[in-house]
Amino acid sequence: MNAADVALTVDGIPVTVAAGASILDAIAQAEIETPTLCFLQTLTPVNACRVCVVELEGARVLVPACARRAEAGMKIRTDSERVRHSRKMVLEFLASTVDISTAPAMQRYCAQYGAQPQRYGAESAKVAQPVKIDNALYVRDYAKCILCYKCVEACGTDAQNTFAIAVAGRGFDAHISTEYDVPLPDSACVYCGNCIGVCPTGALMFSSEYELRARNEWDEAEQSQTDTICSYCGVGCTLTLHVAENEIVKVTSPIENEVTSGHLCIKGRFGFSYVQNRPEEES
Ligand code: SF4
Ligand code: SF4
Ligand code: FES
Repeated sequence: MNAADVALTVDGIPVTVAAGASILDAIAQAEIETPTLCFLQTLTPVNACRVCVVELEGARVLVPACARRAEAGMKIRTDSERVRHSRKMVLEFLASTVDISTAPAMQRYCAQYGAQPQRYGAESAKVAQPVKIDNALYVRDYAKCILCYKCVEACGTDAQNTFAIAVAGRGFDAHISTEYDVPLPDSACVYCGNCIGVCPTGALMFSSEYELRARNEWDEAEQSQTDTICSYCGVGCTLTLHVAENEIVKVTSPIENEVTSGHLCIKGRFGFSYVQNRPEEES
């Protein structure tokens, strides 16, 4: 243990993390799983969803594990009645206002914490708005948006520095928008798709995936994933090709890859149609 290391306990388990590490890092050190929605290791924590809250002995309120630094002597509880109740409420509020049909993590957490969004009734307020299909590459369905800010961060200083999207409006009217709500082709968007890569709910989706889902032909269990190196330039980004029926249906990059950190540009992300522009087979 270095002098600067921080010792604390998580659910009674003693752990040591480096100075500056978060409570979430300490929880991971203790090999305990904690739900997160707005957190991603490649993005600055924004502390927006509050699903990661934990109990800190001596503190009046629950604290967000992703954004709060670990401090020496902290006693953290990740699974107390109060924590479980709070997480359940957060999940119910989110799931009663947005469509979580393409958000597997949300669905898993709802089951884990016994969230019952239906108890707010069919008339509960929704963030629904028409699906935005205004370009050939990706679809924006903000009825599925939990306002986690990840896309805004990926489009901003955490990755792309393009600033094509931001949160507009306040309170229940808060929503992700381009400048003046212009269609994507008229915005600053450069179609890197890094926002799609970080979106946890499927609100942002490859057009190819959207169309396959609409035809009820999207089946991840039947897809293969193959890593390769992008052929467009010398940076050498690692691409993960998601293939169904011998066709590439989307492209991602591993988040732990030191070249990309999961981010790509338009060519690596969307420039795959040439691969499958095969000549008609001779009969
Ligand atoms: S595709 Fe890239 S530039 Fe366009 S909104 Fe998403 S992150 Fe921003
Ligand atoms: S569109 Fe996706 S990434 Fe962006 S705020 Fe909504 S849920 Fe988060
Ligand atoms: S994951 Fe910590 S506040 Fe969202």
